[in-house]
Amino acid sequence: MMTDNIKRVLISEEEISAKVCELADKINTEFADKNPIVISILKGAFIFMSDLTKKIKIPMTIDFMAVSSYGSGVKSTGEVNIIKDINQDISGKHIIIVEDILDSGHTLNCVINILKKRNPASIVLYTLLDKPERRVVDIKADYACFTVPDEFVVGYGLDYGEYYRNLPYIGVLKPEVYGGR
Ligand code: IMP
Ligand code: MG
Repeated sequence: MMTDNIKRVLISEEEISAKVCELADKINTEFADKNPIVISILKGAFIFMSDLTKKIKIPMTIDFMAVSSYGSGVKSTGEVNIIKDINQDISGKHIIIVEDILDSGHTLNCVINILKKRNPASIVLYTLLDKPERRVVDIKADYACFTVPDEFVVGYGLDYGEYYRNLPYIGVLKPEVYGGR
């Protein structure tokens, strides 16, 4: 069973759902006349993106980027490659970046720097999870749904070796599954 490798449930489905609603309300208020482009980073943010955008009531569009920094392991290398770029001009537009987890910060720092060069009107970073103890790059989320301890977490889009993304909650992976860290 997939769940045999989960040490404990860190954030339940209900807790996630309540926070996602709160964040959607914030977007509904703050971006009411801004027609934002909501950009999510594949693949980890796909469930968060889906649940969040279903609760957004204002006009908005979506786009996706895919970047690689991890392979199938647990450590960030600092190198970020764009595997899939967005395919539209974002100059003068309001950008909401939706991410699964802010860990070392390498990925988001890189993505934000790339997008800033394209002259958007504004960029905010909304992340489901923030793991501040692991930060290497000086970057802060404009909103984090949950702050998590320095443990490897999976579920609700987050993977280990591409597995566990389909768990409906955020769980802590047993360290023996990935050989500790
Ligand atoms: P960063 O560049 O170190 O901030 O890493 C960001 C990416 O690493 C995230 O988008 C995740 O895909 C992955 N990641 C970081 N920490 C975890 C974790 O605890 N579980 C699963 N994936 C993680
Ligand atoms: Mg990953």
